[in-house]
Amino acid sequence: MARMIALVPAAGSGSRFGAPSPKQYLQLNGKPLMWHTLATLAAVPGVDEVAVVVSPQDEWFDGFDWDLPKLSVRRVGGSSRAESVANGLAALACAEDDWVLVHDAARCCLSVAAVERLIAALSGHAVGGLLALPVPDTVKRADADGHVAATVPRNGLWLAQTPQMFRAGVLENALRGVAAEDITDEAAAVERLGLKPLLVEGDAQNFKVTYPRDLALARAILAAREDY
Ligand code: C5P
Repeated sequence: MARMIALVPAAGSGSRFGAPSPKQYLQLNGKPLMWHTLATLAAVPGVDEVAVVVSPQDEWFDGFDWDLPKLSVRRVGGSSRAESVANGLAALACAEDDWVLVHDAARCCLSVAAVERLIAALSGHAVGGLLALPVPDTVKRADADGHVAATVPRNGLWLAQTPQMFRAGVLENALRGVAAEDITDEAAAVERLGLKPLLVEGDAQNFKVTYPRDLALARAILAAREDY
C-alpha cells in the first residue's frame, strides 16, 4: 500500500527575517516555531512519517527536544528549497506511488483539518495538488516607480500554500533538472511536465511566517487552539 510521507524542507536561513537563528527555531509559545508545524503533520492519522530536511551545517536542530511521533531528520538540505526537497526525496527512497506532502517549515499554523481536506480531495487523483486560497483582494500590477500599471482581474487567481501533495515518482521527475531559481513551489515543477495539479481550498491561517511582524499573529492563532 502506498505510504504517505510529509516532507518538510527546513534548510533555509530565513534571510528576510533577519534573526540570529533561522526562523524555524525561534521560540513560539514555548516551542521552536517548527515544532508546531511538525506536531500538526504528525497528528494527521493518514501520515506515516514526518521527515524534516535540515542543512548539513545545521547547529540548532539537536539543541531541542522534539519528542514527536513519526519524526525523522535528514541532514541533506541544499542551496535552494527545490534542492532540499529533491535531496530529501532521494534520502527517503520512496516507492514511485508513495504520496509526498511537501510543507514549508514556516507555515506553523497549519491545521489537521486542512491537511485532511487535501488528502481527501486527492484520493484517486492522477497527479496531485496543493492547498491554495482564492485571491480575496483586488490585484494591481506595479510599474518600476511603484505606481499602478494595471488592475489584474482576480477571477481565477489563487495564492499557493503548502502542503503540496504529489506521488513521489512524479515529484522526482519534476524536480530532476529544473533550474531551482526558476521555481518557488513543487507544483510549478510538476506543471512543467504538462500536468495539472488540483487546487484545494486552504485557509488564511496557514500563512508563512516571513517577517518578524508575522510572529504575533502566529502566537495568537496557536494560543487559541486547544489541540492539534
Ligand atoms: O525562504 P522561504 O520562506 O520561501 O522557504 C520556504 C521553505 O523552504 C522553508 O521551510 C525553508 O526552510 C525551506 N528551504 C530549504 N532549503 C533552502 C531554502 C529554503 O529547505 N535552501
